[in-house]
Amino acid sequence: MSKIRAAITGVGGYVPDYILTNEELSTMVDTTDEWIMSRIGIKERRILKEEGKGTSDLAVRAIENLLEKTGTKAEEIDLLICATITPDYQFPATANIITDKLGMKNAFSFDLNVACSGFIFALSTASKYIETGSNKKVIVVGAEKMSSIIDYTDRNTCAIFGDGAGAVLLEPTTEELGIMDSILENDGAGRKHLHKKAGGSLKPASHENIDAREHFVYQEGQPVFKFAVTKMADVSVEIMEKNNLTADDISWLVPHQANLRIINATANRMGLKDKSKVMINIQKYGNTTAATIPLCLLDYEKQIKKGDTLILAAFGAGFSWGSIYLKWAY
Ligand code: UT7
Repeated sequence: MSKIRAAITGVGGYVPDYILTNEELSTMVDTTDEWIMSRIGIKERRILKEEGKGTSDLAVRAIENLLEKTGTKAEEIDLLICATITPDYQFPATANIITDKLGMKNAFSFDLNVACSGFIFALSTASKYIETGSNKKVIVVGAEKMSSIIDYTDRNTCAIFGDGAGAVLLEPTTEELGIMDSILENDGAGRKHLHKKAGGSLKPASHENIDAREHFVYQEGQPVFKFAVTKMADVSVEIMEKNNLTADDISWLVPHQANLRIINATANRMGLKDKSKVMINIQKYGNTTAATIPLCLLDYEKQIKKGDTLILAAFGAGFSWGSIYLKWAY
């Protein structure tokens, strides 16, 4: 009997309308378009401004787009995994809210918190449910309202992040297509360089810690950058070597969009000379954390061909990092 693999059979996405440009940011903090473009590579990012809307609303719109494109009914979905670090509430899971809003009556659902590596960890997890035969139509959504945890008086972080959601549908296939391999890794000692100080069980929200702005993202850029450059490249090369792939075999690198310099370093280490094989949309969306990779897949969907070899790679808080090798199925 041939092996069952999990194939991506559709991609959907949504970004809010409001565009926060570098020009507008430079009226809020001491920064310039030149600094942001040369150090990070971001021109603008999207912000969810609508009152009373959270991450689940971004995810719902991305999934509606996915269901419509693939001609799938909400009741057909049997599992939904939401990768996010900006859940609507600390509990219940945002995934539970999404399935309720969309009428996914036959799906169980849960959230997965692995920050910028969240989509890769969620996709790898979802693939196991398909490979074992226990699930047939699974949605993985990466969704973030990063603007809800960003301090727009802190120039070290506010230029980087944006809001958005991207989703994929996974279905079983017995062809030599779909998710072929994944590598997932963590080093929790890295948490000191990138975290949100207050609002969890360790330091519950208080007037004092809110006044101290500890309910926002805290990042020490340089140590995170050093780890990100090394680990994202290492794990991408490792998955190539493990599967006997050379740079010529790779149709697309789909990197997490944190910094154009990290993306270029990863592509170089993999030996990808043709930079048009590297999916990049950081300039228009910034770092949407768990949503960057599916939003890239959506932007490049028309150019990807059945059988194409893709390497997905990410690095994020935790620290966490990982890669996925997959063959495009449509
Ligand atoms: O996706 C999750 C994982 N996160 C990452 O992968 C992020 C990794 N880190 C980075 O991408 C970069 O470290 C940053 C983009 C965050 C920062 O770039 P950098 O080149 O490492 O700058 P830096 O932190 O070393 O700061 C250099 C200077 C500092 O000024 P002083 O102390 O030299 O006077 C910063 O205050 O640049 C200053 N700076 C800015 N200046 C203008 C920091 N942010 C800004 C800004 N505009 N937005």
